[in-house]
Amino acid sequence: MSKEEELLELSKTVSSCKLCKLHTTRTQTVFGEGDPDAKIFFIGEGPGATEDKEGRPFVGKAGMLLTRILEKGLGLDRSRFYIANVAKCRPTVDLKFLKDRPPEKDEVSACSPYLIKQIEIVRPSVIVSMGNPATKFLLSTNEGISSLRGNWHEFNGIPVMPTYHPSFVLRNGTEEVKKEIWNDISLAAEKVGLKIQVQIKWKDSR
Ligand code: URA
Ligand code: SF4
Repeated sequence: MSKEEELLELSKTVSSCKLCKLHTTRTQTVFGEGDPDAKIFFIGEGPGATEDKEGRPFVGKAGMLLTRILEKGLGLDRSRFYIANVAKCRPTVDLKFLKDRPPEKDEVSACSPYLIKQIEIVRPSVIVSMGNPATKFLLSTNEGISSLRGNWHEFNGIPVMPTYHPSFVLRNGTEEVKKEIWNDISLAAEKVGLKIQVQIKWKDSR
């Protein structure tokens, strides 16, 4: 089976998954997408409202920022990377307001085997974990993102670069934080031999 076929088969399994309580509130699962041969694999937290509606990862506001970093900063279409989340269903606070929250421990335990399988299939050269849930899971640590980001770590022999989650950058986008996320993603790009294109114009990033 080709990588593409393996991913398709796994995505079919995920689409009917009921292993955790998040299946009760989802519109649909968000498996992830991108180049099965991607050198860089980006991992977020879980789908938000827009992703839940569209069935694709990082297509809301945070997604627009990530897309901008990849396409303007690294100069490649986002389809050249692989993009997925720790949780494949939208993590919600309650049924009534569907307010977003990070995935809980039991949800990460239930869902993460799918992510591990995706990583095994794609076999990227580098992983960029964005934010605390992805980073804590991959590195089996309780340390926060601000002390881990900017340095190389490892998951199953694959180099991992933790960085801030794009939503955090949107909410808390001090110049320092913007410089840091760009620094971290540039390090990942350099490691796989990608030439950095241009510095991003942050003002246009929303
Ligand atoms: N935030 C995430 O962590 N993942 C998405 O897919 C969208 C927003
Ligand atoms: Fe299954 Fe993951 Fe969705 Fe939970 S979040 S129901 S484990 S696909």
